[in-house]
Amino acid sequence: MRVGIISDMHGNIYALDAVLAELNRLGVDRIVCNGDVAFGLVTPAAAVDRVRELGIPCVRGNTDDFPGQPDRFAHDARLAPVLDWFRRDLGDERSQWLANLPLRRLDLDGALLQFHGAPDNNEDSVLHVSLRPMVERSLDEQAAVLSDYTARVVTFGHTHTPSEHRVGSKLLVNPGAVSYQLTTRDPRARFAVLEGEGDEWAATLHAVEYDWERAARTAESLGLPISAAAAYQLRHGHPPA
Ligand SMILES: [Fe+2]
Repeated sequence: MRVGIISDMHGNIYALDAVLAELNRLGVDRIVCNGDVAFGLVTPAAAVDRVRELGIPCVRGNTDDFPGQPDRFAHDARLAPVLDWFRRDLGDERSQWLANLPLRRLDLDGALLQFHGAPDNNEDSVLHVSLRPMVERSLDEQAAVLSDYTARVVTFGHTHTPSEHRVGSKLLVNPGAVSYQLTTRDPRARFAVLEGEGDEWAATLHAVEYDWERAARTAESLGLPISAAAAYQLRHGHPPA
């Protein structure tokens, strides 16, 4: 069994389609998504529509809650108009679809547990470590968070930081972000492929090129207060200093 794991596409259809094409080329039996499907300055509605038309099961990321929180950035002059634009681009029906996504879900007959941040909280990042010293410092904390769950593979997103490591008998996989890289300092789209069966699973982390110049120009064309910063992040793989 081979499973494509995607997360944090943030409404970027160009990056998402490049990842889907690469997963198709690699050959996977199914694809799952760890949330943050839509919020971002490229093509929110198109990203939601693609995930839905392919029947990719998703969990609900913290930004997937934004459409239902119209006043979230009411006092932020840069983000308030972005949220207004985002909610208009999505429309009510897609917003409702996002709101109805589960915080966590099981797949592969219970072998795979997926969520966005932590199992009960899509903003928590206790499991989001990638540097080996940080992994070792937090092993006990991670094991405690996951002690109620029997899945052999645990996958999540949220920090846009690809990582793959083991805690006890569990394999923890953050595929990184399809769009809006934060820590990779490389604009390529990230995803993971999980392979195995029964209790034996392994994951590989992948990066694929896509037309980030087109995505950046789309972000700029929106003329929103964060358009320039978003375009910079899309082009460079990290936010402006
Ligand atoms: Fe995200």
